[in-house]
This record gives sequence, structure tokens and C-alpha cells, in this order.
Amino acid sequence: MKNLLVTGGAGFIGSAFVRHILRTYPNYHVVVFDKLTYAGNLNNLKEVASDARYSFVQGDIADRHTVEQAVKDHQIDTIVNFAAESHVDRSILTPDAFIQTDVVGTYVLLEVGRQYGITRFHQVSTDEVYGTISSGSFKEGDALEPNSPYSAAKASGELMARAYYETYKMDVVITRGSNTFGPYHYPEKIMPLFITNAIDNQPLPVYGDGKQVRDWLYVDDHAMGIDFVLHHGQAGQVYNLGGGNERYNIDITHQILNRLGKPESLIRYVTDRPGHDRRYSLDCTKLHALGWKPAHTFESALQYTVQWYVDNEWWWRPIKDGEFKEYYQRQYAERLKTAQA
Ligand code: NAD
Ligand code: TYD
Repeated sequence: MKNLLVTGGAGFIGSAFVRHILRTYPNYHVVVFDKLTYAGNLNNLKEVASDARYSFVQGDIADRHTVEQAVKDHQIDTIVNFAAESHVDRSILTPDAFIQTDVVGTYVLLEVGRQYGITRFHQVSTDEVYGTISSGSFKEGDALEPNSPYSAAKASGELMARAYYETYKMDVVITRGSNTFGPYHYPEKIMPLFITNAIDNQPLPVYGDGKQVRDWLYVDDHAMGIDFVLHHGQAGQVYNLGGGNERYNIDITHQILNRLGKPESLIRYVTDRPGHDRRYSLDCTKLHALGWKPAHTFESALQYTVQWYVDNEWWWRPIKDGEFKEYYQRQYAERLKTAQA
């Protein structure tokens, strides 16, 4: 592995992965291939912008010509596909882009990868492809029962990756990561939304009863887990990549308010998300047996994350003043009007 194409590298987890790879492997070249949608942000890559081993190509993974050009120009041998529409609530409002990027885009990358003899293709997937589980934890062989347009699109993308392994013997690995948090997270997801709203003394809109459970993984651990599977995973295999930190949404909400010294009166119980998965839980025995475990504890990573948003308003304030405002209005205005304290 020498020349990596990192699609979606200007997003939240992709940019953490790029920073990690350039820190860790002096001989690797990283080409970030990113469309720069509302979620892509070159500020996420500021730290590496002047590194001679880093290049940036603006392009759409569903546009075969641009992908081919990048693969040829940079003699790419490895593709790590982070590029996706990634937010469940937006997939409920407007599913089209999810099909285009998460399904068609993944197919185009696989096809170009096959044509140019890529030696490894890493598909970054999600625990949401399994659907919801009331007790116990999902194992890699369990059925995929995705419930949102987002998770259905992600499941489709990874099934296509699987097919390229089975049919063409392409060297494919897949990770199913759990809910990720940390710096540079677009403030539409619960953690950065609630932290930045609380900083501004704005309401925190908790969906339904707040008793849904997510398994939280710190972003650097997610990046390092992907690095580990990229280098040590077996072709054709799927690996659950979870943090082992299951928490109720309402507990996360209280923790954020406590750490910021803000009152619980900011909490609003709002109309639930349609098709809302109750609980995600991953059995990560397979990846642990291969030799990987998260390095950060949930509490210390959460404290660091909350403080990062306090210290880095330069990063998130322009985002919240831009396209985000229109989305927030659409997603929350009615909900907040009819909310319960
Ligand atoms: P993100 O929304 O922050 O970033 C997505 C990036 O992809 C952005 O930079 C965006 O510009 C780019 N992009 C979108 N469409 C594109 C296209 N058509 N062509 C090229 N680039 C495009 O997402 P994230 O949270 O960093 O997630 C990264 C990956 O990890 C996704 O595949 C997601 O499904 C997966 N994942 C995320 C989580 C999580 O909790 N955030 C958990 C598990 C898995
Ligand atoms: P989110 O951060 O959107 O990630 P995902 O849907 O991919 O798990 O949501 C995490 C949990 O938080 C999920 O159960 C929905 C809930 N949630 C709220 O209660 N209020 C909100 O405003 C958001 C964005 C999420």
C-alpha cells in the first residue's frame, strides 16, 4: 500500500483517518477525493494541507470519469470509501442523494477499482445496516434489516462490495462502525448539535422518550480501527467496529449539560423520528480476536470533545450560520413548537 484514495476525506471520520494515516505512515500518499457537499469541509484538513504526501481532488464518486482520472493520475493502489450521505434525518426528508452516493457511488468506485487492479478496497459501513436489537448484540453473520433510507443505502453499498469479492475476487474488506463522536463533526448529529446548542443556551430536541441506545466510538478510535482492518483484515470479511459504550440518548444529553454547566430546562422532548431504531449493539469479538480494541475511554473522550467545541467556535459557528439554518428550521421548527419540557 502506497497511494491511498480516501473518498469522503473532507468529512468527519474521513478527515480524522487522513490525519492519522499521514502521522503514522511516512511512505504513504493520500489523495482525498471529495465532492464537498454541505458536510465536506476543507477546514477539517487544515492540519495536513501543506503536507507534500497529501493531495485533494474535488469530485463525485458517482462520476466515473473523475474517479478514473484520479485513480490514473495518482497511481492509486488502495481505496478507502468514506464518501456518503450520512445523516438519517436527512435521508427521511430527501432520500435521493443517499441512493446516488451510497449505492451508485460505491458501485462506481468498485468498478473503477476492478478495472485498475486496486489491491485493497475498504468499504466503511455502519452498525445501522443490522437494524434494531432489543437484547444481545449483532454478530457479523446476522441478517441485515436496515430501517431508514440511509441504512438501506449503506447496506446496498456494502452488499455490492461483497459481490465484487465473491464474483471478481476483488480484495474487499468491510467495517461496520458504531455511532462516532469527536471534533470536526457536522453539528446535525446528536453530539455536536446538543453541545453547540447548549453553548448557545438553545433547546436540546430529544426524540421520543430519549431511551434509545447507541454504542459510542471516539473518532480517533474509529480511524485507527479502519487502519487496523485495512492492514490486517482478511479479504472478503466484515468486521464490527464498536466502542463498547452503550448509552441512552437522554443520558448523553444530561452528560453534555452537566459538563457545560447548563440547566436541564434546555431539554425538549419532541416528536420522534419515523422508523427510529431503538437500540444498536455490536459484538466485536471478531475484531478483538484479530488484535484491535479502542484506546480511549468514553468519559475522557466526551470531556475532550465538549471542550473542543467550546474552544473551536471558529470551526462550527460559520457552519451553523449557513445551509444548516434552513435544515434546522425544516427538521425542528414544528417539533420545537409542540415540544414538551
Ligand atoms: P460526513 O457526512 O461527515 O462526511 C461525508 C463526506 O463525504 C463529506 O466530506 C462529503 O462531502 C463527502 N461526500 C458526500 N457525497 C459524496 C460524493 N457523491 N462524492 C464524493 N464525496 C462525497 O460523514 P462521516 O460521519 O464522516 O461518515 C463517514 C463514513 O462513515 C460514511 O460512509 C458513514 O456511513 C460511515 N459511518 C459513520 C458513522 C458516524 O457515526 N458518523 C458511524 C458508522 C459509519
Ligand atoms: P444521530 O446522531 O442522528 O445518529 P444515528 O441516527 O445515525 O444513530 O442520532 C443519534 C441518536 O440521537 C438517535 O437515537 C436519534 C437521537 N437524536 C435526538 O434525540 N435528537 C436529535 O436532534 C438528533 C439529531 C438525534
